[in-house]
Order: sequence, then C-alpha cells, then structure tokens
Amino acid sequence: MKKLIFGNFKMNMDLKQTEEYIDLFLPKVASSKNEIAVFPAFTNLMFAKQKFTASKILLGAQNLSAEASGAYTGEVSASMLKSVGVNYVLIGHSERRKLFLEKNDCINKKIKSALSQGLKVVLCVGETKYERQNKKYKMAIEKEVVDGLKGLYENELKNIIIAYEPIWSIGTGVLPNGKQIEEVVQIIREEISKEYSINAGKNIKILYGGSVNSQNARQFAYVDGISGLLVGGASLKADEFAKICNI
Ligand code: 13P
Repeated sequence: MKKLIFGNFKMNMDLKQTEEYIDLFLPKVASSKNEIAVFPAFTNLMFAKQKFTASKILLGAQNLSAEASGAYTGEVSASMLKSVGVNYVLIGHSERRKLFLEKNDCINKKIKSALSQGLKVVLCVGETKYERQNKKYKMAIEKEVVDGLKGLYENELKNIIIAYEPIWSIGTGVLPNGKQIEEVVQIIREEISKEYSINAGKNIKILYGGSVNSQNARQFAYVDGISGLLVGGASLKADEFAKICNI
C-alpha cells in the first residue's frame, strides 16, 4: 500500500547543498510507489520546485504566516508559498510551539490561511515526556487536535493530515512501541469523530514522526492506522532518506 513519506529538513542545507542533495536523491526514488514530499527551508523552495518538475516529488514548507499580507516583517504568506508551487505546509511543529511560542489559536489561524490558498496542511501534534509519564498525553493530544481544527468544515479535512510526533522521540532515538502509537491514532480518530463524524475520524490520515530511520521505517509505517512517516534527521542524507522512501 502506498505510504506518504515526508522529509522535514528543518533549518539545514543552503542552496548548493540542496542542489547536491536533489541530484543524488531523485534517481534513487524514481521508481518509488510512495508519495514523497520534501520540506526544505523557504529560500530553497523555488529551486527545489524547478528540480522536481519532471518527477512526482511534492514540495512542502515548514511554516507560514497566519496573516494574508501586509506589514509583518519577516513573514511568508500562504499565497506566496502557493505561487512558488508548494503543495504542503507543516503547521504546529513542536519546535515552533516550544521555541517560537506558537499557541493553538495561532496554529488554527495558520491552518485556515493555508487552506484558503489550496495548500494541504500537515498538523503536528504530540506530547512531552512529562505528559507521557504523568498520563496526561491523551488530554494534550486531544486539545491540540480540537483547538487546531476549530471552525473547519468537515469537507476541509481532506486537505489535513495529522502528524503524531511524540516530543520525547524527536531527535532522541527513543522510540515509542506500536501499541503506544496505535493508542494515539485511536485518540485522534475518536476526537475527530466526536467533532465531525465517524467517517471523518476513520478517513483522516495520520503520520508518525520521531527518530525514524531506514532501519525502523518499515516498522512504523505499517503500524495499524498509520498512513506514512514524517522524517527529520534521517531525511538530511539523500541515501538514507531514499531508502525510507523506497520501503
Ligand atoms: P527526527 O526524525 O530527527 O526525530 O525529527 C522528527 C521531526 O521533528 C520531523 O518533523
């Protein structure tokens, strides 16, 4: 079954490094049956799009402004991303929540802005180590899902993917087991079923992210209810990410 394999480059790779990466990467994934998207830095988006023209690789941005346009120095809007051919945008990544103090209402506004321009959204949710250890993870995840999607219509959910990224697993090599992921998948589906409909809960696509590499990718991608992977560190090496894309 086709999986979604997304690579979040975070704040890595300049233009030249991006070019070298793409030149290595494209031939290795040419026959992959999966849907692949890469999320480079803003400055590399347009260049990457041009390189991808003859391929099926999709393009994602790591962030966007909640505002449409105007006096917001340093921000990049949904329409700007759309105009350079971006398909997906990551919203609510835990690094943005923690380091840039993004709250659920801002995340919700960003989602609406992205959808208004026809971008697909990858909404990232996940609990801290403290919340996991103190059995508060259910509440934390429910809140991120419900507040993030507040005010959206059910027909807009087809353009939303939820990425479950337990914060304690991001960049640490500490892995959740299949049962833990399945439980969270269930929590997300139940919450969406309550807010919308059983069908909406059943149909929402959910990715797993957190310390995925070519050794463990298969085990995570085939957890029940998981549609694919959001890969950080291991997406930075063309060879390694290509292996994951070819699972
Ligand atoms: P790592 O794969 O480096 O743990 O990062 C995951 C992530 O944050 C992807 O968005």
